[in-house]
Amino acid sequence: MTVPSPRKLIIAIDGPAGVGKSTIASRLARKLGYVNLESGAMYRALALKAIEWDASFDDEEALLKMAQDSRIKLDATLGGNRVLLNGKDISARIRERDVTEAASRVSVHPKVREWMVARQREMGIGGGVVMEGRDIGTKVFPDADLKIFLDADPVIREQRRLDQQRVKGAPAETMAAELRERDRRDRTRAASPLVAAEDAVLIDSTKMREDEVLHRIEELVERQLAARR
Ligand code: DC
Repeated sequence: MTVPSPRKLIIAIDGPAGVGKSTIASRLARKLGYVNLESGAMYRALALKAIEWDASFDDEEALLKMAQDSRIKLDATLGGNRVLLNGKDISARIRERDVTEAASRVSVHPKVREWMVARQREMGIGGGVVMEGRDIGTKVFPDADLKIFLDADPVIREQRRLDQQRVKGAPAETMAAELRERDRRDRTRAASPLVAAEDAVLIDSTKMREDEVLHRIEELVERQLAARR
């Protein structure tokens, strides 16, 4: 008799910028043999297109049309997501400062979000995914098998971002102010603001090492898998 193997999970990791979601999600996915999908990269891809086409970040209809006319692809690799826009690798470009700022602005629009959420559902619906973002547990996969809300003190998040971007970064105060403004926008926008889902497990990583956070999430995953056996 063959014992059916448990369905692969959908794991949602949400939280603010600079909290270390991408690294954790990518390491977790690698350990589980799952695919890691960075939903923010899709907003960044659209933002880059808007920059290249000189479109207004406030024009919701134009942005939606641009999204509909684009092929945005996330390829999970060992080092994180490779992002393709109409076949072109834009992975490095979308991490730059102008795109980061623009992504924060294009992601406030409800119609843009609706389009993104539909694509993200298509990508993750089969399970075996760790998807990270701001609204994965609340909107994209409200029935996710495991929801994590990763948080950390703003000062720590600013420091982590600075460490990541030291080479090409702007002055520290400017970057910290920009991060705070993006945070404010994420948390106060009318459409899907950044909030923890009611059934999310909150992890405050302010005083935790990356390995500790990963270990804690692995325990939660193991519990979920065990409950399915
Ligand atoms: O996670 P990130 O920094 O790459 O995200 C880029 C922007 O996209 C960020 O300003 C917030 C927004 N975003 C969002 O609104 N919803 C998501 N699920 C992911 C990102």
